[in-house]
Amino acid sequence: MGGGPSVPVVPLSRDRVVLVTGGNTGIGYEAAKHIAMMGASVIIACRSQTRASQAIRRMNEEFSASKEAGTLPEGINQTGRLAVDCMKLDLASLKSTMAFIEAFKASGRKLHVLLCNAGLAMLPRSFTEDGYETMFQVNYLGHFLVIAHLLPIMKTSGSDCRIVFSSSGAHMYSEWKFSESKIKAEDPSAYGRMLNYGTSKLFQIHHMYCLARRLKGTDISVTCLHPGIVRTEITRSFIDSTALAAMFGTFRMLGFTKTPLQGATTLIDAAVNPVWRGVSDVYLVDCKPSSTHSCARNKEYQEKVWKYSLECLKNYLPENVIESLEDRTTMAE
Ligand SMILES: NC(=O)c1ccc[n+]([C@@H]2O[C@H](COP(=O)([O-])OP(=O)(O)OC[C@H]3O[C@@H](n4cnc5c(N)ncnc54)[C@H](OP(=O)(O)O)[C@@H]3O)[C@@H](O)[C@H]2O)c1
Repeated sequence: MGGGPSVPVVPLSRDRVVLVTGGNTGIGYEAAKHIAMMGASVIIACRSQTRASQAIRRMNEEFSASKEAGTLPEGINQTGRLAVDCMKLDLASLKSTMAFIEAFKASGRKLHVLLCNAGLAMLPRSFTEDGYETMFQVNYLGHFLVIAHLLPIMKTSGSDCRIVFSSSGAHMYSEWKFSESKIKAEDPSAYGRMLNYGTSKLFQIHHMYCLARRLKGTDISVTCLHPGIVRTEITRSFIDSTALAAMFGTFRMLGFTKTPLQGATTLIDAAVNPVWRGVSDVYLVDCKPSSTHSCARNKEYQEKVWKYSLECLKNYLPENVIESLEDRTTMAE
């Protein structure tokens, strides 16, 4: 896919802390590497510490090689090693997600930018140890828990804080009507690989709108995006499906797919570009606001999903966390 927007280069202070879920490969890897090259301190939160450590090594090797070859993007003046660290986070387990949250809090770090990027796509029907449909928990609910607990840190971290969701154009293929049993995929006949993936991505957009209402008047913005069709490891789960593999192969053949860096460009832009400071409620495609499905903008539906999420996480959300999350003093009508 030729052309497209270029990766922005914005000088960032090492005091600026950026957390990228799923930063060990694909879109998250490129975003983590480029944001670290701009100077920020980046933490990649990953389910495999081995893969995370390998990714950090590779980021530094690629950075050094580009420096030596003189091919670093203009404006990148970092010396020494990139400030990238890793932490363990398995979003398919609420227990692991809580352990990550506790470790993050205990580290005493600030948090300025949270990129909710980790995800799985079009899995065959499966469930997490917590009993939820896997994509619902990994793509959506686990990130809900992380945000709920880390928002108080973001609120006191300083100016221009941002939350960005790697959503997807697949949200257009979800079911607009809220149904718990569909989310839980209790009925196998109601399960669809695209349908349930799309639903998890739709919920991320709902999450953006709900958070943005609650964060109005703060210096935390919330955006989401579709990265395009990107040649990453996301296709791992297509292996058992001839139809999905053929669909992706066709997109690739027709030149509709992007490299991981092209796919990461909108995520990097949303994370660092000063033009997005204080901007919420936008769904970005190729670094430009684009429209979401009408059901994504349905406020009643958004709040239903929010309420349902609080119910799912009630054993993990103490009263003070809910109070901070639901701080409606500045919430718009
Ligand atoms: N690629 C596309 O065409 C496309 C299109 C639209 C939206 N997106 C979205 O973009 C995001 C990034 O996707 P990608 O294309 O970069 O895919 P990817 O290469 O497969 O990377 C996904 C990342 O998520 C991590 N992850 C998966 N399950 C996890 C779990 N239980 N806990 C913590 N981390 C987990 C993976 O870790 P492991 O390496 O350990 O598996 C990996 O780091 C996803 O949210 C995806 O839905 C992608």
